[in-house]
Amino acid sequence: MPFNPLAERGLPLDKQLRSWSELNVQPYDTREVHPYTRCRVILMNGIEAEAISFSHNFNRNTPDVELKQRLAMVRRIEQQQQKAVNWLIPAEKNENAIEVTIGYEQVAVDLTAWLARHEPDPYLKQCYEFGLLEDFDHLYRYANLMDLMGNGRRVEEITGDYTEITPGRPTIFEHRDPRDDLRRPMTKVAAHRQSVLNAMTLVSAEQQTMNYYMNFGNRPEDPLARALYLEIAEIEEQHVTHYESLLDPEMGWATNWLFHENHECWLYWSCLETEVDPRIRQVWELHLAMELEHLRIAARAVEEIEGRDPAELIAPFEAPMTFEENKAYVRQVLADQIELGSYDSEVMPVANLPSQHRYFDYQAAVNAGGSPTEEVIRRHREEFGSEYRFETEGPNPVPGLREDKDGEEIAYARIVRERVGSLEAGRSSMAAE
Ligand SMILES: [Fe+2]
Ligand SMILES: [Fe+2]
Ligand SMILES: [Fe+2]
Ligand SMILES: [Fe+2]
Repeated sequence: MPFNPLAERGLPLDKQLRSWSELNVQPYDTREVHPYTRCRVILMNGIEAEAISFSHNFNRNTPDVELKQRLAMVRRIEQQQQKAVNWLIPAEKNENAIEVTIGYEQVAVDLTAWLARHEPDPYLKQCYEFGLLEDFDHLYRYANLMDLMGNGRRVEEITGDYTEITPGRPTIFEHRDPRDDLRRPMTKVAAHRQSVLNAMTLVSAEQQTMNYYMNFGNRPEDPLARALYLEIAEIEEQHVTHYESLLDPEMGWATNWLFHENHECWLYWSCLETEVDPRIRQVWELHLAMELEHLRIAARAVEEIEGRDPAELIAPFEAPMTFEENKAYVRQVLADQIELGSYDSEVMPVANLPSQHRYFDYQAAVNAGGSPTEEVIRRHREEFGSEYRFETEGPNPVPGLREDKDGEEIAYARIVRERVGSLEAGRSSMAAE
């Protein structure tokens, strides 16, 4: 049954304010929680963070005091929602920051895969599949780090049996010139309504991951852990650039506010439809009721400021975003697209880039002296005699990414080595041994 958020009644704004004790929720039990419940918590924290920073930016860009007041009132509720959601994550001693990191990358994998599978626009779908393989690789790198840090928990205790852990597009090769992360924007007029929701979801999730690594990455003591976070944090910057450039840059501020509230409605509705934990389900239900009212307020702003009919800008929700297993799909994308790089807004096999392309200059600059994402695998092999992998469906579909690769390597490794010269890539775990 489609869900039309403009036709639903929400909770009046003056009933939305909660006390400190209501916001200081009981965290989930890290050993009992469903992996995808953790994923929903991480995702919705990112959605609220985006709602808040968007509202602040709107505030800084309007002189209208009455509008500023409306924004401030709704924003204060978004802040409370963010606390109620993110405080569901247990304390460090029960679920430490590297375990939460594994959750972040599982979100990136299974969220991006679902969105790619449900994206009607072929260019956008390609952009999502491109990013998917990169976050998939981050999960593998962090899994090796978590195992090295040795807190006694296996990575798949966090991720469950749902997501495989094996190399994707090797992180060392993900570093590219900033101009090659910019994609072509959709227009709100021509874009499918689902495409707008999909892109906003990825922008919020990747931005939250970027912020998390920017701030948490300097907390570990081990120099390798610190180095790994900073290298991957730079890729999350690329991902935010990549996904945000898909959004229509020309919509009005009020329309953009409407889109944000509508987007929050879609995702809380999705959480509500799919949640297995009855207590956390109540949080989603309450927050959806709040968002319906935010939407009504933003819709009124669109009518007043831009003179447009909100019902022409958004559409009823057809299907909830669902965290679910995407193993076969990820394997197929891996097999088909491992060799892709990009040039301006187009993705293409790295072999098709001109030999003097700026990609190779960027690679030479940042990977000079080695890459922590390669080092973590080397260190794991050194200490344990093998890599940390969780391959439930057989060996990696790309022969050059198998642990026992028997002289195989991916073209990426060869091409970068040839064009960049003596670089970490030449000595990396991706190279033939
Ligand atoms: Fe919110
Ligand atoms: Fe990532
Ligand atoms: Fe990412
Ligand atoms: Fe909201």
